[in-house]
Amino acid sequence: MIKNVLITGADGQVGSELRELIENEKYQLLDVNFYFTTRKILDITHQKSVENFIQENKIDTIINCAAYTAVDEAEKQEAMANKVNKEAVEVLADIATKNNIFLLHLSTDYVFGGDHYAPFNEDEPTNPQGVYAYSKLAGEEAIQKSAPRHALIIRTSWIYSEFGHNFLHTMLKLGHSKNEISVVCDQIGTPTYARDLAATILTILQQHKQKLPEGVHVYHYSNEGSCSWYDFAQAIFEIAHLSCKVQPIYTDEYPTLAKRPHYSVLNKKKIKEAYGIEIPYWRDSLEKCIQRVDKENKRHKIGIIGSGFIATGLANQLMQNPEYEVAGILTRTDINARKDFLQNKLLTNSLDDLIATSDLIVECSGDAIYATETIDRILKANIPVVTMNSEFHVTTGSYFVDKGLITEAEGDQPGVLAILHEEAIDMGFKPVVYANIKGFLNENPSREDMEYWGARSNLSLEMVTSFTDGTKVQIEQTLVANGFGADIIKESLVKLENDDMLEGGTLLAQEAKAAGISGAVSDYLLSSKLPAGVFILAEHDQEQHDALKYYKLGDGPYYVLERTYHICHLEIIKTIKRVLHGGGVLLNNSQTPRFSVAAIAKRDLKVGESIIKAIGSFDVRGETVRIDEHLSHVPIGLLANATIKKEIKEGEIVTFDDVDLPKSLALSIWEQIISSR
Ligand SMILES: NC(=O)c1ccc[n+]([C@@H]2O[C@H](COP(=O)([O-])OP(=O)(O)OC[C@H]3O[C@@H](n4cnc5c(N)ncnc54)[C@H](OP(=O)(O)O)[C@@H]3O)[C@@H](O)[C@H]2O)c1
Repeated sequence: MIKNVLITGADGQVGSELRELIENEKYQLLDVNFYFTTRKILDITHQKSVENFIQENKIDTIINCAAYTAVDEAEKQEAMANKVNKEAVEVLADIATKNNIFLLHLSTDYVFGGDHYAPFNEDEPTNPQGVYAYSKLAGEEAIQKSAPRHALIIRTSWIYSEFGHNFLHTMLKLGHSKNEISVVCDQIGTPTYARDLAATILTILQQHKQKLPEGVHVYHYSNEGSCSWYDFAQAIFEIAHLSCKVQPIYTDEYPTLAKRPHYSVLNKKKIKEAYGIEIPYWRDSLEKCIQRVDKENKRHKIGIIGSGFIATGLANQLMQNPEYEVAGILTRTDINARKDFLQNKLLTNSLDDLIATSDLIVECSGDAIYATETIDRILKANIPVVTMNSEFHVTTGSYFVDKGLITEAEGDQPGVLAILHEEAIDMGFKPVVYANIKGFLNENPSREDMEYWGARSNLSLEMVTSFTDGTKVQIEQTLVANGFGADIIKESLVKLENDDMLEGGTLLAQEAKAAGISGAVSDYLLSSKLPAGVFILAEHDQEQHDALKYYKLGDGPYYVLERTYHICHLEIIKTIKRVLHGGGVLLNNSQTPRFSVAAIAKRDLKVGESIIKAIGSFDVRGETVRIDEHLSHVPIGLLANATIKKEIKEGEIVTFDDVDLPKSLALSIWEQIISSR
C-alpha cells in the first residue's frame, strides 16, 4: 500500500514537476500524502534526519529526486558527489530494506560509456566515464546490494524542464543575447522533459498503489527519438522563434572537465511494456515545455506585503487570474505558526526574496514606519509599488514621489476618489468637493464596544477602532487633499451630518466659499443612510447644463459623480494592471503636502506611559491639521513604541516635545520634510 510518499530534492527539475502535477492535475492519488522535501528541509546526507523523518511521517515510499547533478563540478568535488549520489543512496536503500519501504530512485544514461550506436538496454554493461557517472552507478549498486524488497531504478537522460538550470534555459538565454553560438554535434542522446518523467513516476505509483513491485528493477526512460545537442539547440530556437544561428562543432573543440558518452540513447521497451505507457517524441514535448515557459514569462509576478484581510483577499484573487502569479507574501509573523493562511508556501520573511521574484509589489501592511523601510528598498530595486496604505502616504509618502513608481490603489476610498477625479476631469467637470461617506463616528469608543464590533465584522481591534474614532477617514481625506491640491474647510474636517450627497456636498461647497476657499475641498459626510462609497461634487460649464439636466444629473450648478461602493482588495488588481500597462501613478501625497494627520490624546497621557501603536489605539486618534501651523506635531503614523515624557491632556495634539520616539527611517524622512519648509 502506498500512503505516505517522501519526495527528496523537491525543488529540482523532476521534483518540481512532480509537485506541479500532484498539486495541479488530477492524479488518482488523492488519498496519498506527499512530503516534498528540499535540501533545506531534509538533507539526504544527514542519516539521522532522514531516519527520523521517515519514522515520524510513517513513510512507505521514497522517490529520490535528490542528487549531485553538476557533472563538471563533480570532477573537482568528488567527495561531495559521492556523498550525495552514493553514500546517501546507500542509507536510503538500507532504510528501505529494513522498513519494507518502496524506493524509487533516479539514475542516469551516463553510467554507459557510449561505445556503440544502438539504444542501450537495461542489462548492458556499464562503463562510467567521470566522477558524476561513477557516483551515480555506485548509488545503483548500493541499492542492488542492499536489495530492498520493493525498488525501482529509473535511468534517464538529458533532463530539461521549465524549472531549474538546464540546457533549454541556457539556450533560451543565449538565443536572446547572441547572434550565433556553437554546440556539439557528435554526442547523441535523447532529451527528457522532466514533466513526462514525473507523469510516468505517478503512473507507476498509481499502478503499485495496492501492490508493490517485488525485487529491484532497472528501467530506462527518456522521450522518444534521438538527436545531438546541436539538433536540440536548433529545435529550441526554431520553436521559440529565435534567430540565433547554431554552428555545429565537435567534442574536441569544446573541452569539458567531465567526459560525456558519445552515444547514450536509452531503449525504453521494458518500461513501456511493464506499465503500458506511451512516451512522447522529444520534439513534441519540447514544444509543450517552451509553451509553458512562454506562458510563465508572460505572467506578471506580484509580491504582496502584509498577510492580513486585504493581502489574503488579494492573493486569492490573483491566483484565480491567469495573467498573474503571486510571487510571495511578506509577513513579519512566524510562518510555521500561521495556521490561518491557505497559502503558507507563499509566505516569506525575506524582503530580499520578494524583491528578487516580483515584477510589482503591493504594500498593504497598514503600518507607515514599516512600509517606509520596505518601500525604500523596493524602489531602490526599481520595482513599482502599489499601496493600500494611506497611513504611509500621509506620513512619508511625499518623500518617495520622485524615487520611483509608487501609487495608492483603487479600492480604498482615496483611490476610488482618484478614479472619479480622473473621469471628472476627462469629462470637463471641475471638482468642488472630494467627499468620503462614513456611517458612524465615535471619537472615543470603549474597548469593549470595539472588541464586540471587531469580532462581528472579522476585523482587527485596531482597524475597527480607527474606523470608529474617525482616524482612518481623516487619513484618507488628508491624502486626497494633498494628492489633488485641494484645501480643507477646517482642521479635523467639517464631518457634516447629512443623508443626501447633493445637499450635503452643496452645504460643504458653500462653507468652503464662506471660508474664502476658491478651489476644491476634501471632507466627508456622516450618514448611516448613504452607501459606503465616495462622491465628487463638481461644476460644469453653463452651456452643458441643459444636457446634464437631460442626462438626469439635476439642475446644477453642482453635480454629483458618485461611486456607491469601494471593494478594497478586489479593486487593487485594476491599479496593478494600470501600472503594468504604463498607466502611471493614480494617487500620491504630492511632493509638497499641506496637510498631515496629527495625534490627539483621547485621555490624559501620563509621563512614562508607552504608546505601542497609535492608529486604532485607545490613547490617541488622528485629525487633519495644516502642517505649517503645527510644525512640531507628531504625525500619527510615526507614533509607535513611543514613551510620553511630558504630560498630555485629553484633546491636546501630541508634539515632538512630548514624546521619545525610537529612531526609524520614517522619522528621519519626516524631519527632512519639515526642515525643507
Ligand atoms: N539533469 C539531467 O540531465 C539528468 C540526466 C540523467 C539523470 N538525472 C538524474 O535525475 C535525477 C533528478 O535530476 P534533476 O535534473 O531533477 O536534478 P536537479 O534539478 O539538479 O535537482 C536535484 C535536487 O537535489 C537536491 N539535492 C542535492 N543535494 C541534496 C542533499 N544532500 N539532500 C537533499 N537534496 C539534495 C538539489 O538541491 P539544491 O539545489 O539545494 O542543491 C536539487 O533540488 C537525479 O538523480 C539525476 O542524477 C538527471
